[in-house]
Amino acid sequence: MAKINFPAPPGRLRKMPLLSIKDLNRSFGGIQALSDVSFKVSGGTIKALIGPNGAGKTTLFNLICGNLPPSSGRIIFKDQAIEGRAAHHIARLGLARTFQNIKLYPGLSTLENVMLGRHSRSHTGFMAAMLNLPRARREEADIKEKSYAMLQMLNIADLAAKEAVSLAFGQQRAVEMARALAAEPELLLLDEPAAGLNIYETAELADLITQVREMGITILLVEHDMSLVMKISDEIVVLNFGRKIAEGVPAAIQNNQEVIKIYLGSEDD
Ligand SMILES: Nc1ncnc2c1ncn2[C@@H]1O[C@H](COP(=O)(O)OP(=O)(O)O)[C@@H](O)[C@H]1O
Ligand SMILES: [Mg+2]
Repeated sequence: MAKINFPAPPGRLRKMPLLSIKDLNRSFGGIQALSDVSFKVSGGTIKALIGPNGAGKTTLFNLICGNLPPSSGRIIFKDQAIEGRAAHHIARLGLARTFQNIKLYPGLSTLENVMLGRHSRSHTGFMAAMLNLPRARREEADIKEKSYAMLQMLNIADLAAKEAVSLAFGQQRAVEMARALAAEPELLLLDEPAAGLNIYETAELADLITQVREMGITILLVEHDMSLVMKISDEIVVLNFGRKIAEGVPAAIQNNQEVIKIYLGSEDD
């Protein structure tokens, strides 16, 4: 199996903030999607971001990844201010994400879809690749080998040659995760990875996310499946109507009266 260079053993990074969000705001017309949101994500941990629909979770992901600029506030990743920077620039610093709606490319195999994730770290220039220079060929072979190793890790190597969009839903989620991991991120953002998965697939996902953390990768997770969140998270941030209303370890969040009220309230809807 090809060697994949993940950031560091978990113990070394743990407790240092890898990501700091400070007083973040974002509005869309009259809608204040995020209001003065601040929190930190320590290296080597799993942090969950929860809250009812419309709380601003996906918007926050879009701001962190550079898919949208904030209206105001700061986002510090590895001691660099990244708010408002281009998505490809932020990706190259070591940040990868998966999407709430799976985005795989039709017409490409599973392996090719994962290789696209790896290309975000590729160094060879466009001309070298066009001319099929030895350096470009070597890099392509390396990308292929490491992408295949990623599929092996996620137990989907047997699907490498199949068209990605033809796979079962749970398998497509695994391909998306493999593609994000193939970029060798230090921070991985997962937007509702358990959505649409059955209980067996969700249990596998829990093991997988924990395994990814053990590789030294820090995870920020948006998820509605509370048993999954409570089981794997080190810390939880709760958003409601764009505001942070609670933050803490799973046991504290489970017993937080305001959080309980919101979740019981939304069940009545
Ligand atoms: N691109 C957009 N344009 C306009 N309004 C948006 C856009 N993205 C999100 N919103 C609004 O911002 C609020 C937060 O949405 P979102 O971040 O998707 O919440 P969540 O992911 O927590 O369900 C919602 O009121 C939503 O309608
Ligand atoms: Mg969302």
